[in-house]
Amino acid sequence: MPTPVIGIHDLSIATTHYVLDHATLAHHHGVPVDKYHYGIGQEAMSVPAADEDIVTLAATAAAPILQRHGTDNLRTLLLATESSVDQSKASGLYLHPLLGLPNTCRVLELKQACYSATAALQLALGLITRDPAERVLVIAADIARYDLDTPAEATQGAAAAAMLITADPALAALGPITGIHSTDVNDFWRPNYRTTAVVDGKLSITAYLDAVTHAYTDYRNRGGLPLEEFAAFCYHQPFTKMAYKAHRHLLAAHDLPTETTDLDRALAATTHYNRVIGNSYTASLYLALASLLDHTDDLTGQPIAMISYGSGSVAELFTATPAPGYQTQLRTTTDIINQRKPIDYHHYRTLHTTSEPTRDGHLVLPRETASPYRLAAITNHNRIYETTGHPPTA
Ligand code: CAA
Repeated sequence: MPTPVIGIHDLSIATTHYVLDHATLAHHHGVPVDKYHYGIGQEAMSVPAADEDIVTLAATAAAPILQRHGTDNLRTLLLATESSVDQSKASGLYLHPLLGLPNTCRVLELKQACYSATAALQLALGLITRDPAERVLVIAADIARYDLDTPAEATQGAAAAAMLITADPALAALGPITGIHSTDVNDFWRPNYRTTAVVDGKLSITAYLDAVTHAYTDYRNRGGLPLEEFAAFCYHQPFTKMAYKAHRHLLAAHDLPTETTDLDRALAATTHYNRVIGNSYTASLYLALASLLDHTDDLTGQPIAMISYGSGSVAELFTATPAPGYQTQLRTTTDIINQRKPIDYHHYRTLHTTSEPTRDGHLVLPRETASPYRLAAITNHNRIYETTGHPPTA
């Protein structure tokens, strides 16, 4: 039997209720705003309301997909996150009542910093190769949180990307060849007792560049395309300037031109969403793909390099090729971004420093988010979610 074409059938993005612009942050940090706008390529960051977390972001992203495609043959949900809500229970299980998922759907959570959604895609490809009738829901959801008043604070953000993975995908086929590089490096990590990441910013940049170079070498050794044959390059974007640094590094390593116009042609369309949302860790790469598809005329049949990096570290390079007619499947991510409410600096800092109960505290959260999905309370160690809507139906 021939191997089926497998890939992304649908892609849906969600982000938070609030947004903080970098001009406000620059003012309070006492740095020129150009450092943020041009130096790191960021204009604004998504900020979660008190009643939002990765479960509510994941539900908000996944609901439109289930509305469009139903749950038939949906036998696996893979939720990839670095900002989980529990040390044992998979966050995806909270989506059952919120989204009306079938009991015949296995649920699993994956973690490897900003890389894990890419691993989830690879697992989905394996499951669907075994039974092409099955469909897998992959959700990448993260809240990037660093200590206040540190250089990394300007690279915070939050979002979720939900993807329905199927045979004969309507959006983009995922190629069978991937390049991988894994190594032990302490560039960014978050011990269990911390709500914010520990990061060695400069090391994280060189670790990212090294890992991407090695992943591309592995990809080529396994028969992958040369750089010149890609129509565009979607990188993990902890800040959008990082994509430019990485692409320049990769091109230079292969004696290819690195003029600004070459970089812009390959990257500019991939940066629109991450530039105003900030780092969404494992969702970031898939926000780059959504941005590219929404901001480029026609990429049908043209290979796109997908370059995933998760600190710690794992990098993986693979190919996505837009399917004929993919443009009819595109969504309105810009509206989702524009619906966010500006937050004032004091409120932002209050939300940042307010933590959930660490023992058996009782927390009731008034409605703050405009999303239909929200965290209503934490009581007796239980997280109570609620929805104002009905679970999506086919
Ligand atoms: N106008 C224009 N540009 C300016 C400027 C100005 N007035 N002032 C400074 N800049 C430029 C600098 O020249 C620099 O550019 P280059 O990198 O091209 O040299 C850029 O702005 C940043 O300035 P600094 O190097 O001084 O930045 P910083 O020390 O304040 O912090 C950072 C930058 C290290 C990235 C920090 O934001 C950080 O630690 N972020 C978190 C870690 C991170 O995102 N790492 C990325 C790789 S790891 C990864 O990808 C996984 C992940 O998601 C975490």
